[in-house]
Amino acid sequence: MCGIVGYVGHRQAVPVLLEGLHRLEYRGYDSAGLALPYRGKLRVRKTQGRVKDLRDKGDTATLPGNVGIAHTRWATHGEPSDANAHPHTDTSSRIAVVHNGIVENAEQLRSELTALGVQLVSDTDTEAIAHLIAAELDATDSLEAAVRTALHRVQGTYGLLVLDARRPDELVVARNGSPIVLGVGDGEMFIASDVAALVHHTQRVVFLDDGEIATLRADGFRTSTLGAEPEQTDKVPTTIDMAAEDYALGGYPDFMRKEIAEQSEAVRRALRGRLDDRFATARLGGLNMDARELRGISKVVFLGCGSAYYAGQLGAQLVEELARIPATAEPASEFRYRNPVVDPDALYVAISQSGETLDTLAAVQELQRKGGRVIGAVNAVGSAIARQCGAGVFLHAGPEISVASTKALTNMTVSFTMLALLLGRVRDLSAADGQRIVDGLRAVPDAIDQLIGDEAAIAEIAQRYAKARSMFFIGRVRAWPVAREGAQKLKEVSYVHAEAYQASELKHGPLALIDPEMPSVVIVPDDELLAKNINTIEQIKARGGPVIAVTNADLPDSIADDVIRVPKVAPELDPMLLTIPLQLLAYHCALALGRDVDKPRNLAKSVTVE
Ligand code: AGP
Repeated sequence: MCGIVGYVGHRQAVPVLLEGLHRLEYRGYDSAGLALPYRGKLRVRKTQGRVKDLRDKGDTATLPGNVGIAHTRWATHGEPSDANAHPHTDTSSRIAVVHNGIVENAEQLRSELTALGVQLVSDTDTEAIAHLIAAELDATDSLEAAVRTALHRVQGTYGLLVLDARRPDELVVARNGSPIVLGVGDGEMFIASDVAALVHHTQRVVFLDDGEIATLRADGFRTSTLGAEPEQTDKVPTTIDMAAEDYALGGYPDFMRKEIAEQSEAVRRALRGRLDDRFATARLGGLNMDARELRGISKVVFLGCGSAYYAGQLGAQLVEELARIPATAEPASEFRYRNPVVDPDALYVAISQSGETLDTLAAVQELQRKGGRVIGAVNAVGSAIARQCGAGVFLHAGPEISVASTKALTNMTVSFTMLALLLGRVRDLSAADGQRIVDGLRAVPDAIDQLIGDEAAIAEIAQRYAKARSMFFIGRVRAWPVAREGAQKLKEVSYVHAEAYQASELKHGPLALIDPEMPSVVIVPDDELLAKNINTIEQIKARGGPVIAVTNADLPDSIADDVIRVPKVAPELDPMLLTIPLQLLAYHCALALGRDVDKPRNLAKSVTVE
């Protein structure tokens, strides 16, 4: 949510800042801005709109200078506008700040500043920080000291980058609850809220921890704690295993399409070295648990937000089916607020592609505070949730840029299948059933490629239904989370209203909505509920509702108006494959309606605010 970029070095800063912003735009895209020092004052350019609007605005692209800060915004305090765009400055145009996160005592700070005669020019929480830092500079000539002291007055979360126009050779950055990563170059330093903005320049990075501050100059950096009595933290750069190509479109029209297509390779990566034919089980060394500890687990609770929560529902089903351990899933955003009873013998699984979702991170912290055992199922290595959990299963989906999650979700389900298999095999799952799951997992990548090969047919269906005012997604038991994810994806990228419903519940009310204008996507796995699902289709058809059946059962074409066929691998793995056509359906509906699929309105890739 929001993106920060900074540069100090020997190059012209503006091209580096604009390129970095462009790469972070998926994190927030309602306004953008940058600031550079010039003769003891600031040059600030900002605008409502996208990074390209900033680039095209006036003289932005040609501003000279070797140091600068920049931001792309997702509005929290104050509507998207030029005035509310970052950077924000103090009255004398000396201090510029860009900020991710939320200042909780913003109103109080703004009132105090107003009482002192400061004229605030934006509605944001961030502007107050610029004025506080400037005031501290009356008492110290160290920018780092001024930022540290000013931040002692700020309650809330921040990734903060500060420029002082009178010190054009240094930048100060601080972190509390919102990610900041430093990129170490040769005689130059980069700052970003996400490695995506850095990998084109360097793979040597330093992840700041919460409560840390850093001062950067072209020739290096120093880090220390933010407390009143600072201690050096002596961070050493690590090398990240990501290349610039991982963040490029590579010939695809957009990232959502690219990431859908990458799923077979992403699954192969997630499975590599983790399947064990000798014992028909999975190897998940990152769990740091031996067989005795795995056997002692009383229940498994999956926690995630949005689509990650639906993946957790699939995980809970897999654990119950394969390991016969009670398992549930719950939105992390609700869990953290309802004073949960924490079972010390339970295994809690925090699920997150970004590893930065604030609600999920807060749920992990609440669990740990109460003595709960939490592992992460996280895609972004080095992210806050991964580090907070300390143990878990990395998803290995590769960078996911499109706001709509696709390949990371598939790899969540793959990972939960391996977890369920491992838990099952230390309990009562037979070797034969274990091997059936191992073989099924190995067959998933080819099945995904086969599905994506049918894209043209799904695109044609999508074009016919894209103008519907609303759609139902119907599924039961194994297919219920699939239906929820299908509805979520359609809403998210096409803005067509969609509602997921359990097939079994349809007749208890929502059937009243069925008419020829209301299409239903019915998920029909080839399982013990097949006859009941066919019955549901008949009930919808009898009321004139168009039906798109998504199935791996051997059903005739006449069963529905449209049938999307899905390969079979093993019944437990069906939901994973049944989800993929729904990604393509949503994607092609969005294209048919002319939507910006990678950057849906009002959304951002990682939700680092409440
Ligand atoms: C998925 O398409 C959505 N963009 C969203 O629901 C997402 O899954 C959710 O915000 C959780 O994100 P995370 O996996 O990064 O924690």
